[in-house]
Amino acid sequence: TIESKVDSLLSIMTLEEKIGQMNQYNGFWDLTGPRPEEGVAAKKYEHLRKGWVGSMLNVRGVKDVKAVQKIAVEESRLGIPLIIGFDVIHGYKTMSPIPLAESASWDMDAIRKSAEIAAKEASAAGINWTFAPMVDISRDARWGRVMEGAGEDPFLGSKIAEARIRGFQGEDLSAEHTIIACAKHFAGYGFSESGRDYNTVDVGTSTLNNIIFPPFRAAKEAGVRTFMNSFNELNGVPATGNKMLQRDILKNDWKFNGFIVSDWGSITEMIAHGYAKDGKNATEIAANAGSDMDMESYLYVEHLANLVKEGKVKEELISDAARRILRVKYELGLFEDPYRYCNEDREKKVIGSISNQEAVLDVAKKSIVLLKNDKQLLPLKKEGQKIALIGALASDKNSPLGSWRIAADDNTAVSVIEGMHQYKGNTVVYAKGADVSMGKTTFVTETKINTTDKSEFGEALKVAQQADVVVMVLGEIGFQSGEGRSRSELGLPGVQQELLEEVFKVNKNIVLVLNNGRPLTITWADKHIPAIVEAWHLGTQSGNAIAQVLYGDYNPSGKLPMSFPRNVGQIPIYYNHKNTGRPTEPDPDIVFWSHYSDQKNTPLYAFGHGLSYTTFKYENLKINEVNPSHGAPKIEVSVDITNSGDIEGKEVIQLYIRDLFASITRPVKELKDFKITSLQPGETKTVNFVLDNTNLGFYDNSNQWVVEPGEFEVFVGGSSDKTIKTNFEIR
Ligand code: IFM
Repeated sequence: TIESKVDSLLSIMTLEEKIGQMNQYNGFWDLTGPRPEEGVAAKKYEHLRKGWVGSMLNVRGVKDVKAVQKIAVEESRLGIPLIIGFDVIHGYKTMSPIPLAESASWDMDAIRKSAEIAAKEASAAGINWTFAPMVDISRDARWGRVMEGAGEDPFLGSKIAEARIRGFQGEDLSAEHTIIACAKHFAGYGFSESGRDYNTVDVGTSTLNNIIFPPFRAAKEAGVRTFMNSFNELNGVPATGNKMLQRDILKNDWKFNGFIVSDWGSITEMIAHGYAKDGKNATEIAANAGSDMDMESYLYVEHLANLVKEGKVKEELISDAARRILRVKYELGLFEDPYRYCNEDREKKVIGSISNQEAVLDVAKKSIVLLKNDKQLLPLKKEGQKIALIGALASDKNSPLGSWRIAADDNTAVSVIEGMHQYKGNTVVYAKGADVSMGKTTFVTETKINTTDKSEFGEALKVAQQADVVVMVLGEIGFQSGEGRSRSELGLPGVQQELLEEVFKVNKNIVLVLNNGRPLTITWADKHIPAIVEAWHLGTQSGNAIAQVLYGDYNPSGKLPMSFPRNVGQIPIYYNHKNTGRPTEPDPDIVFWSHYSDQKNTPLYAFGHGLSYTTFKYENLKINEVNPSHGAPKIEVSVDITNSGDIEGKEVIQLYIRDLFASITRPVKELKDFKITSLQPGETKTVNFVLDNTNLGFYDNSNQWVVEPGEFEVFVGGSSDKTIKTNFEIR
């Protein structure tokens, strides 16, 4: 068995070799070129030969992976193969939509498939470990990394975590087309204060147990093989040095038997946090807390052996960490064939294949959310129209690739212009209007992106004036969200808002297509612009997906996985909030209730919102109670849904509950299930749901799942803010 193989290998390993397994290096140098004689790279080579490196990240491509694997396997004493990690976040070269966008599909098959394609391409390039999925729940659109997650809801987030992990890992970890996944960042990273990346996290027990943990728990249940800890401190203790998180909860309570990798340099960062005195102390804290692998802090190899000798870290903890890492290496089949992922022919054949392109186009279409469609401006007529296409993002072939696209080649996305040009029946005239592109730059600052140049407005106004319909593609460039890209304002960057308002003065028939990695505060647009399409950063096939939706060849069905605030002051804003002791006061002259005096409490677009080119009617919400008794409740819920429009459409039917009275106050609504169904015009379907012990409860303050008797409300609808309601009781 794998366990006995790990045992016998461990029995012949020196302490230093075990620690070596716990060391991960970034491979930023040219592996196939001459080896450097000195400096960091030379040290890394030396450590590889000594068997002091367990994994490398950012080495990619068969040639380079083979080169580095060869050193580990052929030159080190025990020849233990490396795990090769990479941030395959939403594709390798053929890019899927960014994860937040994909989450808007609510389509678990499509999401799994997208991860499957990513795994296929990455594994063909020598990679066998992705640092994905990011399962951090976030309620703060200022945080740039919301693009990488599944939004604000723990139930949806858990389903998506599971789908992504199944996609990456498949049924057989040792198959050449699957890779191991990594649930990150454990834990709390999405709750950084003021949405500023890497910032302090201070959250209460109930939020931790009921909001932050569930997707991680689901990841563990889905068999994820690794977790990554986190840059942030959680309630005063950095996640990397947090024993409660890593040893007590993850490894002991949840019985996770894979391994935990630190985030980049996060062991060293405990010094800056003010939690470790120096590198040696940081090493002691991280290793004792259960952080198994050191990503680029260079500390475990330097200090761990001495700490063991000094009795500050028990050798059995080192053996446990090495055991976890070796176990995963065996599961990947690396000992049988370390070059399993290194087949040049497969690399050429798989990466960028037509079937991969088709798969990412499919998920891209499903990710689009129709936010508004007044005047039936959409779908566009296919013939005889003059269309003005405006916005730098409409011609951009880079930006749709989104953030976290390390291996994608520049300018490989289908632009909106290219997508629109597939439809020949209309005249499409393009004008940039204002510059927002940033070319190839990856590390970009707001000031570089946000030009104030309005010199090209005139041309845009001219084409708009002469058009029947204006399609404006505005928003954020791909790298405006992602790690380190927090924003304090969430409007359209640069002069795009002014451009929109100027164009509106000359032509009111505007379809606004948004490209963005996070919810934006588009309150003016919502008030004035008749049609708004949320098209995120949709990946390689972006322009084709957008054009097919605009022309009605694909009827949009996406639903927002995150609330859109009206302004930044409303943040954090989320649908599953608590009621407070003063929820409403109908008399406008009374101020003493939980509200803003200058803005509504509600979001601009709620969680779950998304329109279709048809309409749906919900009726006959019924409780077909089977067993209301506390202990083993089983409540069957049914609803009739009718396609009340005149074309076929797909709807995400959402079920929410509210536990009206509990030992820990419950949110005003909590998503508990959803189903996707397609309906022909006029067709009605009855859809059934079951509520029971698995979804009627919550985690108490000791992280135990409890279901309490009492009254519940149940809501069903096509959005968290548009539901019909009934109730039941658990006795
Ligand atoms: O995987 C990432 C992580 O999410 C943020 N820091 C760097 C890691 C490796 O690139």
